Amino acid sequence: MISRAALNPRVLDAEYAVRGPIVQRAQQLERQGKQIIYCNIGNPQALGQRPLTYLRQVLSLIEYPELLDAPATRALYPGDIIKRARLILAQQPPGTGAYTQSPGLPFVRQAVADFISRRDGIPADPDHILLTDGASKAAQAVLQALIAKPDQGFMIPIPQYPLYSATLTLLGGQQIGYHLDEGNGWQLNEQILESSFTAARRARQNAVGIVVINPGNPTGAVLTQDNIEMIIGFAHRRGLAIIADEVYQENVYRPGSRFHSFARVLTDLAEREVTLFSLHSVSKGLLGECGHRGGYLEIRNAPVDVLAEFVKLQSISLCANVPGQLATYLMVAPPQRGEASYHRYQLERDAIFEDLRAKAEALGAAVNAIPGMQVEIPAGAMYAFVRIELPVAGHRTKSRSGDALAEATAREASYCMALLEKTGICVVPGSGFGQQPGTLHFRTTFLPPRDQIQALVDRLGRFHQSYLRSQKSALPRLRRSARSDATGCR
Ligand SMILES: Cc1ncc(COP(=O)(O)O)c(C=O)c1O
Repeated sequence: MISRAALNPRVLDAEYAVRGPIVQRAQQLERQGKQIIYCNIGNPQALGQRPLTYLRQVLSLIEYPELLDAPATRALYPGDIIKRARLILAQQPPGTGAYTQSPGLPFVRQAVADFISRRDGIPADPDHILLTDGASKAAQAVLQALIAKPDQGFMIPIPQYPLYSATLTLLGGQQIGYHLDEGNGWQLNEQILESSFTAARRARQNAVGIVVINPGNPTGAVLTQDNIEMIIGFAHRRGLAIIADEVYQENVYRPGSRFHSFARVLTDLAEREVTLFSLHSVSKGLLGECGHRGGYLEIRNAPVDVLAEFVKLQSISLCANVPGQLATYLMVAPPQRGEASYHRYQLERDAIFEDLRAKAEALGAAVNAIPGMQVEIPAGAMYAFVRIELPVAGHRTKSRSGDALAEATAREASYCMALLEKTGICVVPGSGFGQQPGTLHFRTTFLPPRDQIQALVDRLGRFHQSYLRSQKSALPRLRRSARSDATGCR
């Protein structure tokens, strides 16, 4: 039988905190009958967000086309839904049961190109668009294609979404972290980018690209146009490609904040050197269709032979799943004014948006009212990256070896585990995303139902105070043990 030790060490080394040990413990507790509030992952429908009726109605007819001719269908489905399903089936007669072309269904790629043009007022080419199994596969394809040597790597934000660090580990590529500026709403800072790039060079780590997540996970920040211009200028100077992870582009809540796509800013700047890989997904936004695994990758400033290699890469897995491709189509081709489904579609979208907006605000404000916690009220996305203050002598075990990072990781892990055990609230320790040394965080979503947010934060606040008390009362004992550790008396 194969042993764990025989597995690829890169697989063993790869970490994905969003589904790490805290979550595994949560599942165990749930099996034992404890009620768990899963705030660890941006999975909106798992926390009660309803799917958009339009999308599900069209998909249901495509999955079972016999319904199109059933007499009851006219009573059950609005006319435009039936028409839309027939239109899709006319372009893809085998429906969902057959492979498609490797880059994806041509009419869907055309619809994605039209969507980008409408959104940004710029031209978009369907031949530069690939449909993928969620944005994850798009990101992985780009990293895989661009990491050519072991000294090469990508600049990734700290904190970041661990898809990037885990995939780089799997590929044997270098992770070149750049800190986001917490004191400046988690925007990117040119000096920090420059110094991280040059420090990496000195350490013989050669960046070939930079990952930017906008709106941010886990930060909830929305980048300004100026900030994006600065990043493109930096990428140009340093010869880097850009991965613009824009899966939260519809999740912008703060008045005055706006989503600016990298594609548009790149075009405005007439930038023709920097290769841009933009990602989008059906999992987030107002669809929340995480289970459908749909998304796309748009590539700008790349020659046709490079595009062909991306198509080849995709062809090795044949094609993206077809329901996911169609969910992507329905995301970018919504019902139009005057069509029967339009009104309901708008109402449902508006309700989901307003719910998310109110929850971001409510959770952020309530967390900031807890002594010892601090958060930038999320301007976008689905998360709050909460900074916590804990008394210092909690876990001194590793500090003797100077490993402050391991110490912070241990302190956060105990905190999040205790939170789970005591309250059933499941969050992810900040170390799973990376953070400034000396700071402690956890990431929570604000996806639980609106009427539960206040109760959730109240529980969090009570837990935090009792955790602080328990830590403070343990301090003299911990300090004694740290002193005896230091003098080697144990
Ligand atoms: C920033 C970011 N990118 C990509 C993904 C993956 O999305 P998908 O479900 O489309 O693979 C996520 C999921 O949470 C995310 O937060």
